[in-house]
Amino acid sequence: MKLAVIGTGYVGLVSGACLADVGHQVICIDIDEVKLTRLKAGIMPIYEQGLEAIVQKNVQAGRLQFTSSYEKGMEEARAVMIAVGTPPQTDGSADMRFIDQACESLAPHLQDQMVVIVKSTVPVGTNDRVLEKLKGLSTKTIDVVSNPEMLREGVAVKDFLYPSRVIFGTRSPEATACLHDLYAAIDCPKLVMSPRSAELVKYANNAFLATKVSFINDIANLADALGANIEDVANGIGTDPRIGHSFLSPGPGWGGSCFPKDVHAILHLAKEHDLNLAVCHAAIEANEEARTWVIKRMKKHLGDLSGKRIGVLGISFKQNTDDTRDSPALELIQLLATAGAIVTAYDPAAVIPTTFITPFTRVDEMYHVCDEADAILITTEWDIFRTLEPKRIAEKMKGKLVFDARNLLDPKSVEEAGLIYQGIGKIKK
Ligand code: UGA
Repeated sequence: MKLAVIGTGYVGLVSGACLADVGHQVICIDIDEVKLTRLKAGIMPIYEQGLEAIVQKNVQAGRLQFTSSYEKGMEEARAVMIAVGTPPQTDGSADMRFIDQACESLAPHLQDQMVVIVKSTVPVGTNDRVLEKLKGLSTKTIDVVSNPEMLREGVAVKDFLYPSRVIFGTRSPEATACLHDLYAAIDCPKLVMSPRSAELVKYANNAFLATKVSFINDIANLADALGANIEDVANGIGTDPRIGHSFLSPGPGWGGSCFPKDVHAILHLAKEHDLNLAVCHAAIEANEEARTWVIKRMKKHLGDLSGKRIGVLGISFKQNTDDTRDSPALELIQLLATAGAIVTAYDPAAVIPTTFITPFTRVDEMYHVCDEADAILITTEWDIFRTLEPKRIAEKMKGKLVFDARNLLDPKSVEEAGLIYQGIGKIKK
């Protein structure tokens, strides 16, 4: 099938490359010429495992192309996928500007029977809105379907090619058939429902997962207070299939470009309908507490943080990504600096936004954060941090506190090196 994809952000690029990889003819459209030139040369705009290889392979095979021309991109396409950003606005609602712009740009190139696929995460009702807008801009008979993205940054290529399910929000059997053709090579349940239901699946999914993480963080803090071990507790509840093991790793709270945005967006949607969604509010509150708990606990060990040297391991919002949007690590760096600490930090990939003005020193080797440190703080679950050797840490540090806010290290070996271990509800066995 010939498919046009609008937007070469992480969702559009991963979806386009993966759909080319399963045999479709894909043209990605973007207005950013610099980005397109780099993509054509095989240079990725984001850090995502496996993406470069899959893009290069499919460009070489002639199945994946990039253009800034809607005319060229949509010529003879059976479907056009909208994968532009919907960033949060100050009131929590999603900014629909890029969706509207995409509709205006694609409308003149629509052909009869074309299927417009909304891939971006959008408020419930957007599909209806896009359909109405396109009807006003074009006389062609088209379908608009919702096919929400469910990709996790860092494992997005794998998530696209081997998903647990895909969601088809459609109004007609013809549009459903088009989506079945598009995903024919991807072996997973295909759940067909209305566009509104599909749109709500996405928000509800992220809100539920965020709530699950907030819940385990609360329980981890309780475990810390009671002397229980959260890993055993998480295993104990996770083995109940009604709960499941995933998303039960405690940490300094959830972050990134999706959970915070989508939980606020679902609350905004609910408010418009005079509903409260108390559980989602509580998840946000617990998430804020998860950050401040780390600082409180740090002060319990070190007293006043003013003038203390803290080495932070991790800046990205989670492992295997350079994304620092709403990163708990960045927030902790800010909270530490505000409390007067002198912060150094290491991350293998993080791209720090220019708007982040909190003073700290970034070092290019992970052990350098330990130099003369009163404490080190692990904020991101990069696998490389699991290899930290307690003895080497101890030799470099001035103080003794190893604050493992991702529960990556073994408390026993840290303490055997003469250090003090503080995890999140994780204790020595
Ligand atoms: C999330 C969803 O998992 C994807 O299904 C969804 O498609 C995506 O949002 C999106 O809306 O685009 P992502 O934000 O990439 O994906 O990251 P996750 O792996 O879900 O992690 C989110 C946050 O929760 C991170 O800060 C992570 O460190 C934290 N987390 C996750 C925990 O603290 N503990 C866990 O057990 C799991």
